[in-house]
Amino acid sequence: MNRTKIAGIGYHVPERIVLNKELENYMDTSDEWIRTRSGIEERRWVEPGMGTSDLAIEASKKAIKMADIDPQAIDLIIVGTLTSDYFFPGVSAQIQDALDIGTVGAFDVKAACSAFIYSLSIGDQFIKTGEYKTVLVVGAEVQSTALDLSDSGRMTAVLFADGAGAAVLTKNDGDSGILSTHLHCQGKYLKELWCEGPSSRENPRLSTDMIKEGRHFPSMNGREVFKNAVRRFPEVIKEAMDTNGFTIDDISLIIPHQANERITKTVRKKMGIEKSKLFSNIHKFGNTTGASIPIALCDAYDQGIIFDEDIIILAAFGAGFTWASAAIRW
Ligand code: UT7
Repeated sequence: MNRTKIAGIGYHVPERIVLNKELENYMDTSDEWIRTRSGIEERRWVEPGMGTSDLAIEASKKAIKMADIDPQAIDLIIVGTLTSDYFFPGVSAQIQDALDIGTVGAFDVKAACSAFIYSLSIGDQFIKTGEYKTVLVVGAEVQSTALDLSDSGRMTAVLFADGAGAAVLTKNDGDSGILSTHLHCQGKYLKELWCEGPSSRENPRLSTDMIKEGRHFPSMNGREVFKNAVRRFPEVIKEAMDTNGFTIDDISLIIPHQANERITKTVRKKMGIEKSKLFSNIHKFGNTTGASIPIALCDAYDQGIIFDEDIIILAAFGAGFTWASAAIRW
């Protein structure tokens, strides 16, 4: 059987730890509100001048090291990110250059919090068809430089954070690897979680008016996002289980996008899943959007709770709205 195996993983977060208390200096919020409403205790933010590619490159190096491959063996680079260093080209081109990977295909996927699973799914198709043998898949974000740190931005500013995670995919003739992936989008909710500028609909794409009106900041209707998230997470987790004929007893670990501890708890209760099966590390890293799933996967692996042959489900929900899942035999 031609299956895609995850041969190496790695993550990288900035050194700077931002505690909830620090955010109290910038806006009308409190450590207590942030903890109880989101579960976040601290997050990582980059130092000035650092971009998404810096984090993505470090995470990629670690994944390549664990996979024990020569970077020249990589046939394709896919980066799930909303926050490329530049408007164009993508972070994938910077990784190709920095790691001296051959002149292979490299592109970014802008599928918000679902971008890592989308990227994993694309990489999986290339390997399953036999087109490529080795694919580097990355989820990386710098959100901190996009945040409105005034009172009007407090709904998003306290949640979002920076980080990167990567995985090296290779071909496996055995039974383990990616079993299925499931991708969804519902664009009618686009404006419930979005960032309007810079925009190709405007000329110039970024104007002083746009900045004055704050249209270059991410904006979110938290309650609407929450409501849809707690519906779509169980649906897409179930889709992954049903496709492979699994019940919840077959699943060792579910790694959801780290959006809000209350979303994770609600999903757990709705699906009757025991606490230890639904991974959470949002208290340490906040919501790193496209990077949160690969960071969580690495964190779970480092904690020694992932074993060979374990069935793992990754699940995401975010802007678009997009949502997605992947079933993996480790
Ligand atoms: O990763 C992409 C997907 N994103 C998500 O899944 C996020 C989904 N949404 C959420 O996680 C939650 O909706 C939030 C954490 C964003 C907000 O929690 P909530 O329980 O839905 O709060 P709320 O919107 O009902 O607001 C409650 C109150 C409001 O005040 P009033 O209107 O009751 O006076 C807000 O203005 O909390 C206020 N508030 C804050 N207070 C202190 C909003 N943000 C803050 C803040 N600090 N940072």
